[in-house]
Amino acid sequence: MITKITLSAKTAAGLDKKYTRVVITEDPLTNHRFVETATGETEYRQGVGKFIEVSPRTFRTFVRTIVQSLKSHKVEYASIVVNRDNFPKLHQYDESWFASTMAENLTLAAYDYTVYKSKPDTKQSLKEIILAEQTTVASKNGFRRGTIVGDYVNKARDIANTHGDDLTPMMLASTAKKLAAGTPVTVKVLTRKEIIKEKMNLLHAVGKGSHNEERFIIMEYWGGGKLNIEKGRGKLKSNKVKVAEKPLILIGKGITYDTGGLNVKPSGSMHDMHMDMSGGSCVIAAIVAAAKLGIKKNIIALIPTAENAISSHSMRAGDIVTAMSGTTVEILHTDAEGRLVLADALTYSARYNPRVIIDVATLTGAALVALGQQASAVMTRDQNLEATLRALGEESGDLVWPLPLWDEYKTNLKSTRADISNIATNFSKFGGAIEGGMFLDHFAPKGVPFAHLDIAPRMDSIASDKLAEGATGEPVRLLIAFLEQY
Ligand code: BES
Ligand code: MN
Ligand code: ZN
Repeated sequence: MITKITLSAKTAAGLDKKYTRVVITEDPLTNHRFVETATGETEYRQGVGKFIEVSPRTFRTFVRTIVQSLKSHKVEYASIVVNRDNFPKLHQYDESWFASTMAENLTLAAYDYTVYKSKPDTKQSLKEIILAEQTTVASKNGFRRGTIVGDYVNKARDIANTHGDDLTPMMLASTAKKLAAGTPVTVKVLTRKEIIKEKMNLLHAVGKGSHNEERFIIMEYWGGGKLNIEKGRGKLKSNKVKVAEKPLILIGKGITYDTGGLNVKPSGSMHDMHMDMSGGSCVIAAIVAAAKLGIKKNIIALIPTAENAISSHSMRAGDIVTAMSGTTVEILHTDAEGRLVLADALTYSARYNPRVIIDVATLTGAALVALGQQASAVMTRDQNLEATLRALGEESGDLVWPLPLWDEYKTNLKSTRADISNIATNFSKFGGAIEGGMFLDHFAPKGVPFAHLDIAPRMDSIASDKLAEGATGEPVRLLIAFLEQY
């Protein structure tokens, strides 16, 4: 069931009696209960802790906690009054941020994934939440933005939560088309034949083990004005393009299921790998949301998508494949497949004359070892880009933390038989997240600011997120903020 979340200028008392009034108190976060007021009405008191201590981070979790508490008490209709003036630490951001953050986190917390439940979930009875006493233009605009952002994060979660048999590369492509329908975003999909013709041999190497053929999804949003494109060849005349028109490029890993390939994953490490297209689902959601929000920029999303399967057609450990860029790659490990498909997408992206490139990928378990499950890793050589992504991570809630991209790390990837290998030639277990970043960095177009987001740490939700189990939809919020502000 979908919870309706709306904004009202009315006071909570002015609303229909069926709405349970949620009142925020300075009790601890764990305190939530029904109370009968002096006038004989019931209200629902939810603690947030000391108002002056509430930070942007704790506020987001708090908003989600309200929804979880209401669900646990089987409340169907609720109204909430939250006064921004009460929370001084939130004043570093403006009023529309406040309204957007409220709308986003109510929407995210209301989400449940029940597609594969044969009986309706009786826990989910929350039908409507009204944010009362919201009158300013800033809060209306912020609320509208936050509702769109929250909806598209949830769409990314829907895609990622779908298991591998119901979401093959072809189905991911049709889902992208479905989401873009009715928006100015165009979607083009390269088939296996066309991928081979484009010499995207790394993408094909990963996909060829499966009868669910690989695809390359190209989504374009020319919100900043269509560029001068040479007819037929899709090449941009770089000398005629103003910086402001150069597109921002998002690349998302779209492995619809990752068995590991012939270097098969052990049991216990495989069953969540239907979410290995989380990067792809997030960039699909972000570009469509950007169009919905009317962002006046040119944005391209590229999603190389494949199933890393086991068959007699699978790539082998030890195979050498010529990448689209011409670099020869020794595939030392078939489970390091994400970097392979992304490498060809990076090469492909150069034809757009990009202003900046960000790839988003559930790339390594090593990123979880480095950071735990609270933040994604960001790797870039561009200081400004790193600072921007970190700040927007804090602002949006999709936290990112840096790891280095230093040339020193690259020596590990030096292959004796080919130009580069896809894992450390000594099979080192150390620094695996950086190793993945260094491999991608090799293929990133030269001279273009490039950042790699390893989102493996945030693929799955954890209890402290106060979200439904499964995909988090991170970093859709960060990507949207980036597209708005970069
Ligand atoms: N999709 C996995 C990474 C992953 C692991 C994401 C756990 C989310 C949770 C990726 O394709 C992979 O298998 N990486 C290998 C790389 C290794 C072979 C160098 C890994 O992390 O073990
Ligand atoms: Mn893998
Ligand atoms: Zn993978």
